Amino acid sequence: MRDYKKYLMEYRLQKLVGPGKRFERYEDLYKALQSGNGKVRVEFVNILTTNYTYFYREEVHFQFLAYYMRTKAPVQPYLRFWSAASSTGEEAYSMAITVAEEGAQKNFRDVKILATDISLRVLEFALEGVYPYNRIGKHVPDNLLRKYFYFDPNTHTFTVRESLKTLVAFRYLNLMEPYPFQKQFDVVFLRNVLIYFDTREKEHILYKVYSALKPGGYMVLGLSESLVGVRHSFTTLKHSIYRKDESV
Ligand SMILES: C[S@@+](CC[C@H](N)C(=O)[O-])C[C@H]1O[C@@H](n2cnc3c(N)ncnc32)[C@H](O)[C@@H]1O
Repeated sequence: MRDYKKYLMEYRLQKLVGPGKRFERYEDLYKALQSGNGKVRVEFVNILTTNYTYFYREEVHFQFLAYYMRTKAPVQPYLRFWSAASSTGEEAYSMAITVAEEGAQKNFRDVKILATDISLRVLEFALEGVYPYNRIGKHVPDNLLRKYFYFDPNTHTFTVRESLKTLVAFRYLNLMEPYPFQKQFDVVFLRNVLIYFDTREKEHILYKVYSALKPGGYMVLGLSESLVGVRHSFTTLKHSIYRKDESV
């Protein structure tokens, strides 16, 4: 682990480790993790993960999704999208709004979005789907806020409407572990998560994501991410958007 990551990890683990904390020393935490203590493991992951996200982050990717819907919906028997490090749900719900706005539900019944993350804390938040005004107001246009959320004037929060929630399934998934999918995906958003892995781990994840895609499907990374020096089988469509070729 690089030094700066060690400091970050130490800083975050201060919540759990130290005089008067749950674990006096790192060794004690280590032993609890080794003994398979599920509660400690969950808390450990919750504390260590970086969950920064917001609605329509890197908006160009949602425009791409809308374009995909328009061109592929008529020729695909089903559409599956995957938000592969969904954090608190903003990415998956932005995908769902895009899908709903494209009117897919009307002409095309079988569209679903899977949203996964390793942190149970963010998944619980996402499932609730309640966002404070200051977290959503400036990112989602008013007409879409009215259409897809309930506003509670007492708490100043927006709650995702059922019509949107039914499009999205939130599940726990560690990108480093086997993927349990039965159907392949059309588009996978794997944005702003590869940064946490080393080159070998990135290659392992990309290999598995590649297998999880339909031939002709796309993988979308964050705009600031690069795969330079990382081996993979995708064709680059444009910066941050990668394609699995049809012939595979
Ligand atoms: C910075 S957020 C990215 C959120 C969203 N994709 C975006 O671009 O706004 C990174 C997310 O990756 C998740 N994550 C980190 N390691 C993971 C792993 N091994 N498997 C699944 N999710 C992971 C974290 O819990 C966190 O919610």
